[in-house]
Amino acid sequence: MASTPYAFTRGLDYDAIVSASEQVAWTVDGILDARSFDASRTMVPTSWVGTDGLPFLDEEAQRTLNHCRAFSYVHLLGNYEEFIPFHLSALVQQEPHGGRSQRRALLRFGDEEMKHQALFHEAETLLERSCGHPFGRHFDREGTRCAAFAQAFLEHGVLARFLLLLAFEWGTQRHYVESIRDRAADVGDPLYADVLRAHWVEEAQHVKSDTLEIARLAAGMREAELDAAFEQLGSLGQLIDATLAGQASQEVETLHAVTGRTLPAAEAATLREVLHRSLSAIIVGVALGHPSFARVARDVSPTAAARLFGS
Ligand SMILES: [Fe+2]
Ligand SMILES: [Fe+2]
Repeated sequence: MASTPYAFTRGLDYDAIVSASEQVAWTVDGILDARSFDASRTMVPTSWVGTDGLPFLDEEAQRTLNHCRAFSYVHLLGNYEEFIPFHLSALVQQEPHGGRSQRRALLRFGDEEMKHQALFHEAETLLERSCGHPFGRHFDREGTRCAAFAQAFLEHGVLARFLLLLAFEWGTQRHYVESIRDRAADVGDPLYADVLRAHWVEEAQHVKSDTLEIARLAAGMREAELDAAFEQLGSLGQLIDATLAGQASQEVETLHAVTGRTLPAAEAATLREVLHRSLSAIIVGVALGHPSFARVARDVSPTAAARLFGS
């Protein structure tokens, strides 16, 4: 790795990233191993859903929404990851004379994301089989919406894409560690926890590659270009938020279908808003609020980061 002006790359190198990746690698079949989810109980911590205080939801409705949230999380992550292999392979193609170690790390990173997509897709199918009903999905089964979403992402600049990726990859790790790994109670379904754990051990390498790429790209940019990258980060955030709103609506529709009871319009609207907020907190809040992401953002552009974080 060529040296960069940024202290946050200290100790990182592509060979070590690939080596760590090889040591923790897993297979989808090895994780799922003909197991199933237990639909008789909640599957994810209740903090993920945030509907505890809503008086119009009974125990069955709360449990159904909990299963919906387990589904939504793997559904959204699997579809979000679709753009990553294209994003990484385009970078490798644009810079064919980059180092072999860098190339190997980025292509392996892309391949791991394709494996994650397969894991999340299998988990979606298994959740539906275990629960005995389909779940509403913002991203259609035919992949039309996912392809459009990935394309919209790829139309943004490469630094903005890496910044978003870094935030989200740190965010998903933090979310797993804080809400499941480090908790003694209310951790949910053992298989679901294993799916997230498998994802976490590989994401740990991805943030290192993101960090090295951000340092390399940012080091060659002027302040105006850095400003533009952070502006684009806001635009990527809006794309994500539309999917969160869409999936929250799908959760309400699934609740109606499973319980056979349609909530009055005002209650449905309240529920939709609460679900959108909690989905945003466990996907976006944990990412943009991650201290390591804030450190990188501030080192890359103190002024743009101040605008992003409002300080
Ligand atoms: Fe992933
Ligand atoms: Fe990743």
